Amino acid sequence: MKLVILGPPGAGKGTQAEFIINKYNIPHISTGDIFRENIKNQTELGKKAKSYMDKGLLVPDELVIKIVQERISRDDCKDGFLLDGFPRTVAQAVSLDAQLDKLETKLDKVINIDVDSEILVDRAVGRRICKTCGATYHIKYNPPKVEGVCDKDNTALIQRDDDVKETVEKRISVYLNQTVPLLDYYTAQGLLINIDGSRDIKKVSEDIVKGLEK
Ligand code: AP5
Ligand code: MG
Ligand code: ZN
Repeated sequence: MKLVILGPPGAGKGTQAEFIINKYNIPHISTGDIFRENIKNQTELGKKAKSYMDKGLLVPDELVIKIVQERISRDDCKDGFLLDGFPRTVAQAVSLDAQLDKLETKLDKVINIDVDSEILVDRAVGRRICKTCGATYHIKYNPPKVEGVCDKDNTALIQRDDDVKETVEKRISVYLNQTVPLLDYYTAQGLLINIDGSRDIKKVSEDIVKGLEK
């Protein structure tokens, strides 16, 4: 399965990605996670990316495309992968198609998680993440067993730097301008599955499986 998961900030891409990669046993490639890992390790790439991410803007295409090209060409992606947060511009989608073409393969499906803007701010601002294992929680909708602590490894949960209201609003407007055109792009290729992301987490997972196995 070669899959892309699309959706606005806070739609539930990462949450559903965790479920999908376990079910189909494929690697999870999140460009946002790759940048956050680089920021943590204070690499050159991390420093460049942070200046855009903190403002809610997209990291320039040429930086992102290079990273994904390298990642997809690794052996563990031969039988499938789930791209989360990439592509985000038409230029990124065109470059992905060109690379898959060269590898004589193509995407199987593109999952679009659709959620109204009003819900998104609440989801992002209430999100908490684990620095150690990357698990995602929500203070109201997906709380950990013990407040503020990861279920899996007892690490103290933190908030992402870009999960403040103003930055989330900026990210949503960037999504509407730069990423929404991809919905037409993948509809034209017959790949898009639309999922109602306003339902609860388990229901959304069930709908995704139905969509993928149709
Ligand atoms: P990225 O990390 O990809 O962030 P994003 O797209 O803004 O999406 P999020 O990770 O915020 O949301 P999500 O959809 O994963 O939601 P989640 O599952 O966590 O990118 C960050 C930045 O990196 C970008 O702004 C950009 O600067 C840069 N970047 C990354 N990729 C790039 C690219 N390709 N090109 C250029 N720049 C790039 O869920 C959110 C919360 O809601 C959680 O608390 C969760 O528990 C809760 N929740 C999830 N589902 C439900 C549900 N069904 N009901 C109730 N609550 C739910
Ligand atoms: Mg995410
Ligand atoms: Zn953890």
